[in-house]
Amino acid sequence: MNTAERPITIAEPLEMTMLMTPDMANFSGAVHGGAILKILDQVAYACAAHYSKQYVVTLSVDQVHFREAIRVGELVTFKACVNYVGRSSMEVGVKVIAENIHSGERRHTNSCYFTMVAKDEAGRTTLVPELKLVTQKDKARFVAAKLRKKLRMEHEQQLKAIHEKWNTHFIDLSEDEVKAAMSDEYQAML
Ligand SMILES: CC(C)(COP(=O)(O)OP(=O)(O)OC[C@H]1O[C@@H](n2cnc3c(N)ncnc32)[C@H](O)[C@@H]1OP(=O)(O)O)[C@@H](O)C(=O)NCCC(=O)NCCS
Repeated sequence: MNTAERPITIAEPLEMTMLMTPDMANFSGAVHGGAILKILDQVAYACAAHYSKQYVVTLSVDQVHFREAIRVGELVTFKACVNYVGRSSMEVGVKVIAENIHSGERRHTNSCYFTMVAKDEAGRTTLVPELKLVTQKDKARFVAAKLRKKLRMEHEQQLKAIHEKWNTHFIDLSEDEVKAAMSDEYQAML
């Protein structure tokens, strides 16, 4: 696909519901966080691949906070949608809703954002369709996702700078600089 023939596509929401089975449990009987992360990644893949009609890879997932435990026996619905596209990248938002089968009570347990990148057969990043933004909600989601992308890029640079200074080149730092950067609590122990 080249820029001239880039199609414009609507983002169709993707929904998947799964029963939480005992093999997914951790030691306390709740669902293991890693089991949820695996499904989240599969859902994000399915959503981005379906939208772009390309093979996609996961570049990153933003912080995932498990604010509420998901229990074995609950039905969990993953609702995914492409919020933003760039040239080859897409932001996919996934909302997780757990339902108690007996009471019917539904809880929004967490949401997270994946950055997925489309690749061609040679493994190079490749163009994805432009996102058709129809409603005010679509447009607002796009803007929010674009702002998050900017933050992610800045964050990546900041983490790189910390790693360079404090993990790679820490030997070049003066004792005073290290001391000044430590917390008051630790300075008192020195
Ligand atoms: C994903 C991957 C192709 C990106 O490679 P890259 O050299 O950074 O490629 P590019 O610089 O062309 O960036 C690709 C896109 O990612 C975006 N991107 C790069 N860093 C980003 C970040 N920190 N946050 C958000 N988007 C980012 C770029 O802006 C670009 O988007 P655009 O094409 O829509 O403008 C490469 O890192 C990769 O193959 N990683 C392995 C992925 C994988 O195997 N995942 C499964 C893990 S087992």
